Amino acid sequence: MTQAEVRARTVTTIAGLRELLAERRRAGASVALVPTMGALHDGHLALVRRARELADVVVVSIFVNPLQFGPGEDLDRYPRTLDADVASLSGLGVEVVFAPTVAEMYPDGETGTRVTAGHVGSLYEGASRPGHFDGMLTVVSKLLNIATPDVALFGQKDAQQVFLVRRMVRELDVPAAIEVVPTVREADGLALSSRNRYLHDAERAAALTLSESLRAADAAASDGLAEVLAEGAAAFGDHDDVTLDYLVVVDPRTFLPVNDDARGDAVVLVAARVGATRLIDNATITLGPTGPTGRRGQPK
Ligand code: PAJ
Repeated sequence: MTQAEVRARTVTTIAGLRELLAERRRAGASVALVPTMGALHDGHLALVRRARELADVVVVSIFVNPLQFGPGEDLDRYPRTLDADVASLSGLGVEVVFAPTVAEMYPDGETGTRVTAGHVGSLYEGASRPGHFDGMLTVVSKLLNIATPDVALFGQKDAQQVFLVRRMVRELDVPAAIEVVPTVREADGLALSSRNRYLHDAERAAALTLSESLRAADAAASDGLAEVLAEGAAAFGDHDDVTLDYLVVVDPRTFLPVNDDARGDAVVLVAARVGATRLIDNATITLGPTGPTGRRGQPK
């Protein structure tokens, strides 16, 4: 049987996963971890495919982490589609799906130790979703401690998450490499997201505003920050169904807003509410006279 034909085993306990991985490691295998909350789409699968290139054993975790949802957020209605998720992983060479219960991950409840995301964790997504990044970093550090992977993979779609995970791994000396995969988009530019399934037809069309605003921001990049912000925000002007939450340009090294006269690579972050659904997207641009970029993962 080739690796691609190996059927993914679903493991629900921490001890079970550790045992299985210890056995594979004794045989010399390297391990990649792809943390997810399930409701898998092609964005998640791009992480899985890259993981398969990087390691012998691919573990996909599927866990809707209550710690990273605030009161009034979509924890209860977040899509849970484990059977379909396991089916979509078949043929991709995934050896293990780790799908623990909340009680398995938080046997003492949810009020204990947290990893804190600091100041950057309180900005942008963190400003709209207080506590979100502490909850995210806490579960990611648990998953890294449970699977002790050689490499863990994350999507550029969640740029602030990537920044915070990389920083945590560096600052807490976690012995795992972090690999970042470009954002996977629909043909029309909409970034794939598990939350896209909440969108009705009219909202689906309106959701394109996010990637359109990033395209407009990129087109204005050679004219500097003020133009980028003006053009990016202007894309939201003619849509009643979309409410802009934030549009900000940050320095990829610090994740703090860039200065007015900044030059070089910067990341445009955008978040908006489309009906009842909050969506985020981002793109890397090059500010200043070197002008518009055309990188992979940019909105079309
Ligand atoms: P989730 O939203 O399920 O995303 C799992 C991983 O898939 C994340 O690294 C995310 O950035 C990546 N991803 C999502 N959409 C993508 C797209 N269109 N293109 C490329 N990658 C994409 O992010 C989380 O879960 C959670 O916060 C988690 C890290 C699992 C911790 O609970």
